[in-house]
Amino acid sequence: MSSPIGIFDSGYGGLTILDGIRSRLPQYDYIYLGDNARAPYGTRSFDVVYEFTLQAVKKLFEMGCPLIILGCNTASAKALRSIQQYYLPDNAPDRRVLGVIIPTAEVVGDISRNHHIGVLATEGTIKSESYKLEIEKLHPGFSVTGLACPMWVSLVENGEFDKPGADYFVKDSIDKLMAKDPLIDTVILGCTHYPLLLDKIMLYIPAGVTVIPQGKYIAASLENYLFRHPEMQQRLSQGGTCHYYTTESPTKFSESASIFLSQQIEVEHVTL
Ligand code: DGL
Repeated sequence: MSSPIGIFDSGYGGLTILDGIRSRLPQYDYIYLGDNARAPYGTRSFDVVYEFTLQAVKKLFEMGCPLIILGCNTASAKALRSIQQYYLPDNAPDRRVLGVIIPTAEVVGDISRNHHIGVLATEGTIKSESYKLEIEKLHPGFSVTGLACPMWVSLVENGEFDKPGADYFVKDSIDKLMAKDPLIDTVILGCTHYPLLLDKIMLYIPAGVTVIPQGKYIAASLENYLFRHPEMQQRLSQGGTCHYYTTESPTKFSESASIFLSQQIEVEHVTL
């Protein structure tokens, strides 16, 4: 039986994280689970995001994953800590669940020159202040300014991310972020969907500001984690496969996933 790495997201966005991870670590087996039927998570309460994320984690454990990455920033911000502190010790002490916020917070220390960081993310992630707390803990003295971009996930989900209509919303959010702190020199894209808007973001981001999409940094962080935890690395099967599951229609998922991955995929339905 295979022991895949589980990647969870509220919907399609985590495919940008999966893509980054599989490019760097193609040898492992993966299961991707998207809770599309209940997405988006970005505006849901703490308790609801926790409950939904825990259901997905349990399902991925049932499917044999010893290690799960919460590819969703909102789930990482609102559910990860509780799962690690309260669920795992009593229910799955030999399994691990990791998120995307700390690995992203770690890299800004090497990138920012003036230590003014901007974070663009969903309302839930910004309100949780997770990026601010983690960056300030890892890099004392850094200034962190967040802005929720309520339209951006919808632009991506509706296939509008490369259309002229997206320009207004992308420019508007970037202008608002830079107005809050004109000294920002590094901007984290703290939502899985935003890398799809990267071409537009680069049109409107001021010169000299570095933009950080997460995929490649999460992949590097996972590689480092597995190097530091050989007991986990040895448990993972290495067949190079990836299976996709969605709580919504597999046909719809497969069609929309081609926006995020440049390949056709087979998808199965799952109930949480
Ligand atoms: N995957 C979510 C995130 O990274 C964005 C989509 C949602 O709101 O569910 O925050």
